[in-house]
Amino acid sequence: MLNWDPPKLEGKIEFDGFWLPRQGAELAKTIDAAWDIVFWVSVILFFVVMVPVCYFAVKYRRRSEHDVTSEMDHNLKLEIIWTVLPTILVIWLFFVGLRGYIDASVPPGGAYEIQVEAQRWNWSFIYPEGFRSPKLVLPSGRPVKLILASKDVLHSFYIPAFRTKQDVVPGLYTTLWFEPLEPMKTLIFCTEYCGKDHSNMLADVEIMSQGDFQSWLRDYKRKKFDETPPVELGKQTFAERGCPSCHGVGGEGTAQAPPLKGLFGRNENLADGTTIMVEENYLRESILAPSAKIVRGFQPVMPPFQGTLEEPEIRGLIEFIKTLK
Ligand code: CUA
Repeated sequence: MLNWDPPKLEGKIEFDGFWLPRQGAELAKTIDAAWDIVFWVSVILFFVVMVPVCYFAVKYRRRSEHDVTSEMDHNLKLEIIWTVLPTILVIWLFFVGLRGYIDASVPPGGAYEIQVEAQRWNWSFIYPEGFRSPKLVLPSGRPVKLILASKDVLHSFYIPAFRTKQDVVPGLYTTLWFEPLEPMKTLIFCTEYCGKDHSNMLADVEIMSQGDFQSWLRDYKRKKFDETPPVELGKQTFAERGCPSCHGVGGEGTAQAPPLKGLFGRNENLADGTTIMVEENYLRESILAPSAKIVRGFQPVMPPFQGTLEEPEIRGLIEFIKTLK
């Protein structure tokens, strides 16, 4: 089959069968199965009707002026068969379709959520890790739920390889879910006329193995770290990691945790009777391994953050704590 490979994009539409593009999601299997059933039922019924029509047209053709026409005007047994069988068939097809529709409409709990923003004439994808990508990168074998929004007019989000399509409506969130199959590169189309460059409103989709996906996320996160000033990054990390629940939104301190306000440069009395001057290394240790040095009057209740924070986040937290005065 002819593949379609638009310029300037990595993705393409590949065909490995005769009719439909290569399958990229679990749902495609269900939809293609239903399509195959309808197609082959139609082919078979076409011959079941047309072959006898041609045969009888020849066999019972009028041969002379005095040909006798049959007196038979109906056949009860035949009429029951050709009413009941197709009825059962269409009811069965209805349930094949209904099941596929329900599967496609209800995302499983725990799906990975990505926000999609449509705008004349591009798509952008906002990941839960807090960055934006012009390309939809997906982990293979993990259910993904998209929450779609439009900044301007009506668009329609369509991935032929996944057999999914959803309107993207201004002022309304719509959702779509799928479970990506093997790693592949394909395309998203806009299928609702949205102005001059509607036909160029394409975006890349790449399915990656779970491992590649994780390292892709890490690279993007690092890029976000590079672009964010340390204090700002620290402030975000402070909020994201739930620090305010013990240390107070403004670092004011609670019964479980000493105040972070004015902490930097202060002499802190520790539980073992010693005193320490608060500087960067003490803060770093207290974030990564909090029970190493406990402030007098407090319990070692803070979880260690060793291995869960990236270097720029730790640096950011230290810089943020310095600003709390
Ligand atoms: Cu967006 Cu057409």
